[in-house]
Amino acid sequence: MKKDWYRNAIFYELNVRAFRDSNGDGKGDIPGVIEKLDYLKDLGVDCLWLLPMYPSPLKDDGYDIADFMHIHPDFGTVEDFKHLMDEAHKRDMYVVADLVLNHTSDQHYWFQAALKDPTSPYKDYYVWSKTGKEYGDTRIIFLDTEPSNWSFCPEVGEFYWHRFYASQPDLNYDNPAVQEEMLNTMRYWASLGLDGFRADAVPYLFEREGTICENLPETHQYLKKVRRVLDAEFPGRILLAEANQWPDDVREYFGDGDEFNMAFHFPLMPRIFMAMKKGDPTPIRWALDKTPAIPDGCQWCTFLRNHDELTLEMVTPEERDYMWQQYAPDPKMKLNLGIRRRLAPLMDNNIEKMKQANAILFSLPGTPIIYYGDEIGMGDNIDLFDRNGVRTPMQWAADLPNAGFSEASQTYAPVINIAPYSPRHVNVAGQQNDPSSFLNFMKHLVKLRKERPYLAESSIQFLDTTSPATLCVVREAEGQRMIALHNLGDSNAYVTFRADLGFSPKIELLTGTPVNPGLKTIRLAPHQSAWLE
Ligand code: GLC
Repeated sequence: MKKDWYRNAIFYELNVRAFRDSNGDGKGDIPGVIEKLDYLKDLGVDCLWLLPMYPSPLKDDGYDIADFMHIHPDFGTVEDFKHLMDEAHKRDMYVVADLVLNHTSDQHYWFQAALKDPTSPYKDYYVWSKTGKEYGDTRIIFLDTEPSNWSFCPEVGEFYWHRFYASQPDLNYDNPAVQEEMLNTMRYWASLGLDGFRADAVPYLFEREGTICENLPETHQYLKKVRRVLDAEFPGRILLAEANQWPDDVREYFGDGDEFNMAFHFPLMPRIFMAMKKGDPTPIRWALDKTPAIPDGCQWCTFLRNHDELTLEMVTPEERDYMWQQYAPDPKMKLNLGIRRRLAPLMDNNIEKMKQANAILFSLPGTPIIYYGDEIGMGDNIDLFDRNGVRTPMQWAADLPNAGFSEASQTYAPVINIAPYSPRHVNVAGQQNDPSSFLNFMKHLVKLRKERPYLAESSIQFLDTTSPATLCVVREAEGQRMIALHNLGDSNAYVTFRADLGFSPKIELLTGTPVNPGLKTIRLAPHQSAWLE
């Protein structure tokens, strides 16, 4: 392991169920992921993030875990998992997976034991109430499906607490046994070779009356313990926080460098979409201006899309309405406080916009994550329930059954089959053979980024230009400098720098074209980006 490898890396998020089905049962599996590692390596991926692949009734796509210590039979075996670790490591790739600390499935034997026998020690693994009235200041996250964070359990005659679906009872972190069980879960997967964990829903571990039950000091204390155990027993493994919070609250999850190594940058993400729609860099500049400094050895994880709805929790109500109006014209596209669509449809399937969104992301500090399928511009299916529409089978080829995902007659979810997103239009093989494809652009972008480790660092400057629609950032390190220009508008931009640049760029990196010496004004087409070095 290279020290701090995650600080300058390309992450790739994938759903085992959706990637490649190796045994023809219609569901993706771990051997299927192994088959495709060379594809990921070729794209330039350094680290895979695997969505939960543990036994589960799959009511929340595996985030409802029924057994922390096994692999879901649909996805393979623990042996397959070890094999995946070996194969990834052979290719110098890292693998992280979800550690779901906050809750279990109601099918977990702990919860089942509590139902069968209320005197069982497992009852105290969960959070109960006789009235279902406590913690009334706590928001509901799955607003479209859950009326309350309490559900009544007839077997026990009490209410149990859940921040997500009612089928996901929250664990009781005031119980030391729960704390220890979850440390053991982490130890187990780390001992099988996992390089780290994407820790799910971490703000919600503890509950305290009179608070919003998020980001509590007790929660941070426990998370620091998780980190201490990981560092002591598995040095070099990493923790990545899913804390969908405002920058100052997320900052706390890095502690003094003794809590998380990484955290997702939730406030930045929607503002990239907002800026591109408004033709105005202000939202992106705002998010970066508000981004606090983080301790040495820590890093932001930046992203455009993931397996959930494009969350609009970290914007103002006015900004949220704007985003919904612009990006969710059909009410079916809305979900909870977000938008359940993939990148390409959000970008009107316009390749220039898709390139720009990524060229922005990759020109900013942090470690970027690519969501599977977005590197080829896959579409979504809003007729599927909840977030399933952005989790459809990966499209490998035009001319194979189920786009090369599976040989089965039926797959876990239908392959997208409506133009312009059907496999005939969007697939890996076709794009690999086309030098001007989006996939080849992404490969190029990944390569440019990896050759310039300083782009991952936190230092960034904004330059004012004559074009109000253009985001202009300067990234530099000793002896190296790049200016990234992004015309966010729908018309041509003529960009003249307000101040002397003090250096003369030689090459535009995205297209590989030389830059005229003494360049003063640059013309950018609508949604064109330029990386001048
Ligand atoms: C996280 C996951 C989401 C899941 C939820 C509950 O937010 O990203 O997919 O539904 O946690 O586990």
